[in-house]
Amino acid sequence: MILKDKKVIIMGIRNKWSIAWGAAKSAYEQGAKVICTCSSDSLEKAKALVEELPGTEIYLCNDVSKDEDIENCLKQIKEKHGKVNGILHAIAHANTEDLRNDFIKTSRDGFAHACDVSSYSFVAVARIAKDIELLDSGASLVAYTYYGSEKAIEGYNVMGVAKAALEASVRYLAVNMGKEGYRVNAISAGPIKTLSAKGIKDFNTILDVVEQRAPLHKNVTIDQVGDATSFLFSDLSSAITGEVLHVDNGFSIVGV
Ligand SMILES: NC(=O)c1ccc[n+]([C@@H]2O[C@H](COP(=O)([O-])OP(=O)(O)OC[C@H]3O[C@@H](n4cnc5c(N)ncnc54)[C@H](O)[C@@H]3O)[C@@H](O)[C@H]2O)c1
Repeated sequence: MILKDKKVIIMGIRNKWSIAWGAAKSAYEQGAKVICTCSSDSLEKAKALVEELPGTEIYLCNDVSKDEDIENCLKQIKEKHGKVNGILHAIAHANTEDLRNDFIKTSRDGFAHACDVSSYSFVAVARIAKDIELLDSGASLVAYTYYGSEKAIEGYNVMGVAKAALEASVRYLAVNMGKEGYRVNAISAGPIKTLSAKGIKDFNTILDVVEQRAPLHKNVTIDQVGDATSFLFSDLSSAITGEVLHVDNGFSIVGV
């Protein structure tokens, strides 16, 4: 059990298909005390889910584009549980029209919204967690990203830009927070059918292409991404920071 005696926060549980749920299950199985967060529209579903992991609690972090929502949530967790050893950020959003239209039509507001919720919020979580002294020594922060940050993938559009900003933020945060011994990494997960993924045009085609071309010829599961997250939370990855770890059955290494 690689997370025995660790406490981790999993942000972004929506339903049983959420990648965050895979992370919560894995951390629990690896011996961690798991504390989850969700937004108000998923509270009932998330509450029912976490009951499957006895002792796991759920807190509301309704809108990560508001510092006060993040602060209230993390302060409540600190009050009840003290310091934590890890935080996962599994949160992203872009307006549907910005995923459906050509990228060139992205509005100024849509661009700002996608980057605010999907990239800046990770910086805010890191800063607030540090400010309220929520992080135990050696704490590990993880964010989820996608290959659409590196290559232009039709339909991923502004989310690709937001993920590129998220990955750069991971590197800058790793430098800032490394001074105090904290680690910051991202996992670039292969495509998985979740509610968020439904917003992406021709998502089934993306899944088919991965199955055909990835070296391991299959798609990844939330459990596999969850296990990689547990590894990054654990002391087994103590020399890894500022990294974007691809958990994609090798798809991103293939050229022609
Ligand atoms: N599904 C994929 O193919 C895939 C691949 C790589 C990375 N990811 C990333 O994984 C993460 C989790 O997504 P998922 O696919 O599990 O989908 P999901 O829909 O299950 O999770 C997205 C979460 O973001 C939360 N959220 C959105 N806007 C929010 C806001 N303003 N404030 C607070 N919470 C907000 C939702 O409530 C939800 O819990 C995202 O960062 C996503 O980009 C997904």
